[in-house]
Amino acid sequence: MMTVPFLDLARLHQEIRDPLEAAFRRVLDSGWFITGPEVEAFEAEYARYCGTRHCVGVGNGLDALRLLMLAYDIGPGDEVLVPSNTFIATWLAVSQCGATPVPVEPRADTYNIDPEALSAAVTSRTRAIIPVHLYGQPADMDAINAVAQRHGLLVIEDAAQAQGALYKGRPAGSLGHAAATSFYPGKNLGALGDAGAILTDDDRIAAKVRLLRNYGSPIKYKHDELGCNTRLDEMQAAFLRVKLACLDDWNAQRRDVARQYATHLQDAAVALPQVPDWAEPVWHLYVIRSGNRDALRAHLDRCGVSTVIHYPIPPHRQACYAEFSGHQLPLAETLAREVLSLPMSPLMTQREITDVVDAIHTFSNSNESS
Ligand SMILES: Cc1ncc(COP(=O)(O)O)c(C=O)c1O
Repeated sequence: MMTVPFLDLARLHQEIRDPLEAAFRRVLDSGWFITGPEVEAFEAEYARYCGTRHCVGVGNGLDALRLLMLAYDIGPGDEVLVPSNTFIATWLAVSQCGATPVPVEPRADTYNIDPEALSAAVTSRTRAIIPVHLYGQPADMDAINAVAQRHGLLVIEDAAQAQGALYKGRPAGSLGHAAATSFYPGKNLGALGDAGAILTDDDRIAAKVRLLRNYGSPIKYKHDELGCNTRLDEMQAAFLRVKLACLDDWNAQRRDVARQYATHLQDAAVALPQVPDWAEPVWHLYVIRSGNRDALRAHLDRCGVSTVIHYPIPPHRQACYAEFSGHQLPLAETLAREVLSLPMSPLMTQREITDVVDAIHTFSNSNESS
């Protein structure tokens, strides 16, 4: 039986094996591994790509969010509005700074935070909103920024899943006061290990994050802030430079896969992702919904089609957030029960796409006839 992998990173890396190996050798031969010319070059290239004045490389996406909280002095007593249906890192960054995440439900059609629900969640303690461009689709940033402006709040994008996505023609990561992103290997722009970055036009915040990521140290053995150690390293920066050059092509290939899913699954008994006309998603994930999700997933598995659930347990139902267990967040809970991510990667073959589509149709048909 043919199997369709969920994401075939080995296939992707095979295409760029030579430049990746050249990058590895360049860093190895330089003997310089932490904050050097590769990091500087990648930061400049990625800031240019996103249209921001600054990019500051850090160790991972969670630290990118956390350092932004620290840089804006968000801490105990403060509240930060976060999506109820995000990866837990968005919440953890807030909690780890001593502030309180306040969950806001998504829109049922786009799965992104509902701007209309935001205002109702604002209190005198609210400092910031963290919209997540979930699954690679930009959140409705004009509406979110309008709420923020009305209440004097910061907007910190979580762009971890949206490298290259556009909102009304403008890149994710350039749409609020600052943004955090993750280059976890499976992301659209992924390193070969952990990595992340902060994007902003704000000189003061960029400078502060630069200090915080490196022991609060402007020059060696001088420490101005209670910093941490979470730097992007030279090897990962060198790999990211190779992969950044491929990002637009790979995103275009993802769009083609998504277009084919949308065309061939329009009559299937599943809900397909809805894209507002101002959004140009990058399809980090192609997420469908089914009231019969677990049976559908088992069927696809039997057909050799690998799927993943993003995410099976919402943050407020996790053991580490027991204090939220009484919260009523019905949309987050419904999504956790119904969402299913189909195989998605730039180099999927026509045969693989057809296998996924056919497997979903055989499930739809057998359900109709039963
Ligand atoms: C929406 C979102 N935010 C934050 C993160 C955290 O990134 P990292 O795993 O690099 O810490 C991720 C990815 O893992 C993510 O998907």
